[in-house]
Amino acid sequence: MNDSARQYAPSAARNRDAIWEVLRPHLPAHGLVLEVASGSGEHTVHFAWGSGAKLVYQPSDPDQLARASIDAWAAASGLANIRSAIALDAAADIWPIEGADVVVCINMIHISPWSSTVGLVRGAARVLPTGGLLFLYGPYRQKGRHTAPSNEAFDQDLRRRNPAWVVRDLEGVADIAGEAGFGSPAIAQMPANNLAVLFRRTA
Ligand SMILES: C[S@@+](CC[C@H](N)C(=O)[O-])C[C@H]1O[C@@H](n2cnc3c(N)ncnc32)[C@H](O)[C@@H]1O
Repeated sequence: MNDSARQYAPSAARNRDAIWEVLRPHLPAHGLVLEVASGSGEHTVHFAWGSGAKLVYQPSDPDQLARASIDAWAAASGLANIRSAIALDAAADIWPIEGADVVVCINMIHISPWSSTVGLVRGAARVLPTGGLLFLYGPYRQKGRHTAPSNEAFDQDLRRRNPAWVVRDLEGVADIAGEAGFGSPAIAQMPANNLAVLFRRTA
């Protein structure tokens, strides 16, 4: 185990309990949860710890240092229901996994190009069965407006850092999810003006 590879994301420590409360009731007792953009891996470990041993987690991230962190957190946890992290670019037409019962993606959509969001919903539609859950978490605009001044300031900061990084319109994400075969989302208000967005594959 390489403890020094473990990264610490303060936001993950802050939001993981609130996310878990919303996600947990929708998880099956057994099966595979694919996490896209796992980052440090702290969410993966928290969710795997709260789940039964028969619900297995597949973390992923395109970034090698993130994957090392995920694997280090998983090793330190001692949990047997976490697979080794895989290199998965949401934007890719082919994902290195054939199927999953749930796809979770936390705080990626606003901090990557739009092609990642399009790839995410198309990829999730490929790997999920009918009725499968795509769970998103992050900040969104709704009805063409920011939902809070803090989100507007965050959006401006993102755009300064990279013009392709933008707080997305929830309706735009729902549109492409609908085209990919998902129904209308269920939405939960979360702390710090974030949303949990739950899509079910209908087609
Ligand atoms: C802000 S971090 C969020 C990490 C973690 N989900 C969390 O909430 O702590 C964004 C993550 O998205 C990943 N990412 C960026 N573009 C991606 C893509 N096209 N496909 C998958 N992951 C991507 C980055 O490598 C990074 O780990």
